[in-house]
Order: sequence, then structure tokens, then C-alpha cells
Amino acid sequence: MSHIVLSPPSTFFHFQFMGSKTSPILALLAPGAMGAAIATRLSASGAGLILTNLDGRSEPTIQRARASNMQHASYTEIVERASYIYSVVPPKDAFAVAQMILSAYKAAGSQRPLVFVDCNAVNPESMKSMATLFRGTGIILIDGVIIGTPPTPSFNPGIYVSADPKDVAALDEFTRMSNEFGLNVIPLKGEGAGIGDASAVKMSHSGIVKGTIGLFTTMILAANAASPSTADGLLHALNLSQPALVDLLVRLLPEALPKSYRFVGEMEEVGGFAAGTNANTFDGLAKIFARVAQGGDSDLDVLLKFAQQAKETRESESASRV
Ligand SMILES: *[C@@H]1O[C@H](CO)[C@@H](O)[C@H](O)[C@H]1NC(C)=O
Repeated sequence: MSHIVLSPPSTFFHFQFMGSKTSPILALLAPGAMGAAIATRLSASGAGLILTNLDGRSEPTIQRARASNMQHASYTEIVERASYIYSVVPPKDAFAVAQMILSAYKAAGSQRPLVFVDCNAVNPESMKSMATLFRGTGIILIDGVIIGTPPTPSFNPGIYVSADPKDVAALDEFTRMSNEFGLNVIPLKGEGAGIGDASAVKMSHSGIVKGTIGLFTTMILAANAASPSTADGLLHALNLSQPALVDLLVRLLPEALPKSYRFVGEMEEVGGFAAGTNANTFDGLAKIFARVAQGGDSDLDVLLKFAQQAKETRESESASRV
């Protein structure tokens, strides 16, 4: 049994006067929608210089970086000046960013301590290979994942982080600093915690949330394949026995289904992570998302119509309560 102790960010009772915070130099790669929103939140909360690299970037990305108070720098400048690097890129680019930072660091002949925080949805095994990459250099790797949509003034996603036990001081300092500058970083500490565990939180969380969407999708399509009235019966039965599930599908399905193509790879990754526990469930869920993504409009129509009827069912219920 491994226990993971979630230490809540200690921002409560942490009094600070504006202007008295000392900010380390930060770097954030790259200024996509998530990265730029994080940079905006950091700078709005008093963080100082936030470097990024804009080589070969499109005009909208350059504008977004500027609007988020980020400043262009070469990779060499980044490794020579920044104390912390947040990597916020699509999962397929995560390794390339880590390698680029490592080469720049080595080319600069640098020994200075540098904390590299991979915030990307890569699987725990890839995080462990990334740790091997940095071993023996001055770069400390923190495994991180972002749960939730990009931050706004009224919403802050959770950034779960873990590190090798020998790097726990760096993990604590990164957490303290990030939370002081407006983020919501939650360190995973306690028994067994190490590189790969933050990624494992993302895998498990995504397996539950997107797996639930896949389960709804499978059974709505199966019910409809039996007959459209079976689908009506299913909705009636869910409304009768599990109204909270109807609310959940009303909230999740319409937003998620048009993005089914993205969930195929994600379910395969989750399946790989869960393989030792249950190898098959997520293969099946990957296939159902692939079917919806490729299957023309009829599956999507059935599902969205079901979600719409589910919404009306719940609305009529709340209307009848008033
Ligand atoms: C759904 O269930 C509620 C009771 O929880 C009921 O008031 C409502 O009429 C039901 N809606 C439909 C369309 O069956």
C-alpha cells in the first residue's frame, strides 16, 4: 500500500505586502494557450521576469507572449538566467523541450542549479526516462501535471508535482514560490512518492473522467443500436435511479464528444499505465472514441441528442420542484 500525502498549498495565513516579494527569474516554454495563461497569472501575482523562446513562432503566439508579459530569450540565455523552467507543451513535444534545455545547459558549460518542471501529460515511464536524461547534471527535474483548463482571474487549475526524494527541498521551494506568485501547486509527498507520480495522478484522473465519458458513449450507442426506444428507456431509468449521473453526462458529453479524436491516444496511454491492473478496459474505450471520431455524424448525432434530452429531463425536474 502506498500512501500519497497531499500537502495543501500553504497560501492561507501567508501575509505578504505588495512589492516585497522577491521573484526569481522564471522561464516558461511555450506560450500556447495554457502556457500564456499561466504566465499571465504569474506576472499578475507579482512574478518578475518570465523568459520564453519565440524562435520560429507564429505572430499570434508572439502577441500572446507579449500580452502575458513574457520576454524572448535564446535557450542559452534561458539556462544561464532562469532559476525555474516550466515546460508546458503538447505531450509529444515534452521530451524535445527537455533535450533542448539539457543541450543548451551543457553547451553553456553550466553548473548552476536549475529546476526544470515538466508540466505535461506524459506517462510515468517517460518521466522516468526524462529523469535519466538529467541525471548527473545540475538540473533538477520536477514531474508536474496540470488538471483543469487554463487559469483565468477566477479559475486556477491544480498543478500536481512530485520529485525524487533527494530533491524534496527543491520541490518544496518550487511549490512555495509558485503559490506565492498565484499558482495552485500541490506537492505529492510521503510514502513512495517520486518522479512519475504526478504523471500517474494525471493518468488515473483522466482514466476516470474520460473513461466515464467513454462508458456513457458505449452504452448510449449500444442502447440506440438495440432500438431508439431503448435509448429513451435508458434515459428514463438513469433519471429514476441515478439522477447525478444524468447531470454528469449533461455536463461532460456535449463538450467532450467533438474532441473524441484526442481521447484515443489518451486512453491508450492510460491503458498502458493501468496495464498491470486491468489491460483491456482502456483498449475498448480507445476504440469507442476512435469510432465516434471516424464514424461520421450518426454516432455523434445519437449521442448529442441523448445529452440534449437528458438536459431537458433534468430541467423539467428542477422546473417541477419550484
Ligand atoms: C426525472 O426524475 C424526476 C424525479 O427525480 C421526475 O420528477 C421527472 O419527471 C423525471 N423526468 C422525466 C422526463 O422522466
